[in-house]
Amino acid sequence: MAFTANYKSNRNLFLCKSDQEMASKLMDQLLEIISGKTNRAEKISIALSGGRTPLILFRYLSVALKSFKAWDRILVFWGDERCVPPDNPESNYKNAYDTFLSKVPIPEENIYRMQGENDPEHEAKRYSSLLKKLNIQMGVPVFDLILLGMGDDGHTASIFPDQMHLLRSEKFVETAVNPYTKQKRLTLTGRLINNARNVSFLLSGDNKARIFSEIYHERAGADAFPAFHIRPQHGTLSWFCDEKAAGLL
Ligand code: 6PG
Repeated sequence: MAFTANYKSNRNLFLCKSDQEMASKLMDQLLEIISGKTNRAEKISIALSGGRTPLILFRYLSVALKSFKAWDRILVFWGDERCVPPDNPESNYKNAYDTFLSKVPIPEENIYRMQGENDPEHEAKRYSSLLKKLNIQMGVPVFDLILLGMGDDGHTASIFPDQMHLLRSEKFVETAVNPYTKQKRLTLTGRLINNARNVSFLLSGDNKARIFSEIYHERAGADAFPAFHIRPQHGTLSWFCDEKAAGLL
């Protein structure tokens, strides 16, 4: 499946010289999304990504957004979660809370964590129903911004290469399994991600370079990687990457 013709018109590439610059440019995008809301009371829905890379951004935001006042308008969700308790070091919620959310005055009720400690199937259903709080277009919730990372195998969120059906699932949230560790996961589906207004990948390190280059240039075989299939149907796709991750572009 090749990128649609208009895909290139709504895709941004931000090559950054440092982690700081990557975080700063992503924050600029977030502030642009917020200021773009004509209705000053309208909420802004963001899904955070997991893994290590976003911690760069979270630490930066916890300082750079000290003077930000509209925290009551920000609704925070997750793109995926490990099926572990919220105090487990593996928890994407714990990492985001410890490095960012606990350091800014966002109302607790605006933080919607995936409850990794609960039965995965039950939690997938619960979280799906939560997403109905968002704007709904064509029957699918619309996030203002979904942050994503990409694994060394081209997975994104918790959609792994051996579970490509999660890209096309009719559900909004599905259970998944990390094929390497067998750890159970919860993930937004590709259909939901591709309904977002903005989807932004944050890539750092040369271990991302080969697959990123294949996806970005739509090389033969790149469609084997889940991240290849992330292309917002009505929104904008942005890649924020450091020089190492972009080293083979
Ligand atoms: C997770 C993530 C996952 C992550 C990639 C990249 O829960 O692990 O959501 O999709 O974004 O594996 O991880 P790094 O940023 O640690 O390389």
